[in-house]
Amino acid sequence: MKLWGGRFEQAPSEVFERFSESLSFDRRLLEADVRGSQAWARALERAGILTAAECERIVTAFEEILAEAARPEFFAGASDEDIHTFVIRKLGERAGNLAEKIHTGRSRNEQVSTDMRLWLRERIDETRALLADLMEALVRHGRRYADAVVPGYTHLRRAQAVLWPHYLLAYFEMFARDTERLREARRRTNLLPLGSGALAGSGIKIDREALARELGFEGLTRNSMDAAADRDFVLDFLYAAVLIMLHLSRLAEDWILYSSDEFGWLELADAVTSGSSLMPQKKNPDSLELIRGKCGRVFGSFSSLFVTLKGLPTTYNRDLQEDKIPLFEAADEVQASLRMARVVIDSAVLKPEVALQAVERSWVVATDLAEALARAGVSFHRAHQLVGKLVLESLRRGKAPKEWTGEELAAFAPELTAELAALLEPAAGLATREIPGGTGPVAVAEALEAAERRLAELR
Ligand code: ARG
Repeated sequence: MKLWGGRFEQAPSEVFERFSESLSFDRRLLEADVRGSQAWARALERAGILTAAECERIVTAFEEILAEAARPEFFAGASDEDIHTFVIRKLGERAGNLAEKIHTGRSRNEQVSTDMRLWLRERIDETRALLADLMEALVRHGRRYADAVVPGYTHLRRAQAVLWPHYLLAYFEMFARDTERLREARRRTNLLPLGSGALAGSGIKIDREALARELGFEGLTRNSMDAAADRDFVLDFLYAAVLIMLHLSRLAEDWILYSSDEFGWLELADAVTSGSSLMPQKKNPDSLELIRGKCGRVFGSFSSLFVTLKGLPTTYNRDLQEDKIPLFEAADEVQASLRMARVVIDSAVLKPEVALQAVERSWVVATDLAEALARAGVSFHRAHQLVGKLVLESLRRGKAPKEWTGEELAAFAPELTAELAALLEPAAGLATREIPGGTGPVAVAEALEAAERRLAELR
């Protein structure tokens, strides 16, 4: 079926029909399309286009269509141009000629925007819930190993000791920002375009406010031309999805490294790893690699729509139909990746003794010493030089930091005192970092509690 045709003398070519159809993918908008159309029927009734009885019949027929949609053969053999055409044809099968009135004063340009907004609004809420689940898993893992000390890295070289929950809370912050971005995206998504017509506003006196309330939209789009042209709200979501994937990918990369033989202080569960078809000893971190890998697809979805929108003439152009696959794919991948990451985190086991060995074998306490000297009045430049020389000497002699005695330290340079040897213990350095946002044990315990409170607010 087609929703147009009067002014054409020839039928569309088969090649064109196949090329331009969207039903094969926009069928995911079915429920949104039906809900939007039911609300539209009520708006038409209020505008005096449909009688109460006609409206009732249409709304009921739509309800039956949704019930029928659960059957696997629902779309079988359908060759309609898009989901909007399909739904109206289905309405015709149930409501006869009355179906011809449903599209009064409405354009598919606003309809598709409405459907996308309704569909996306739900995906945003689901994604936010999945993010909260993941943040909860991070906090849970942090609580499980509340005083585990691990190396913190810069340039992938051991830099300073940090508490494991401090590391995990870094990701908590990233996902908290992602949550904010989704909230913003939702605010701009949750506006009603219906009433905009094709581009100039509907010629039927539709009560847009009532329609918005009925569909749960927080407000109205303010300009009919903008409403027909706008896909910013989709890009907003895609950008949020890109950053979620980017954060997940960095986490995945860390954990792939930390669980490797070379680092060896994190153990991924058998349940989220896989073996090699040839090498019997292998246990590969495929779940994390796939999270990292799927990033490419989500980034691609963002740039795909970004490029599609660039330079499009105002208002609707058929190019806009190309918004759907990127959106659907990004939403699917980001949700699947969030679910996967949570299972990886919940099942991973930290080996605090191995992590501590890595800490103690390196000179992560060097900064602690230099800052202690600075607190005692030595210029930082001098302190830095001095501790640098101590490290060099230590490396020459193959001596671990903890192997220096107080007397040896004091003998090394006039500024160094025997008491400073206490700082060769990484935990002592951690205790000097009790600053908001720092890795001091008290600061981290407070941050964990604050994270739990923030999570409760997010839910
Ligand atoms: N399938 C179309 C889309 O996704 C629906 C809108 C079609 N509108 C039109 N004027 N051809 O954008």
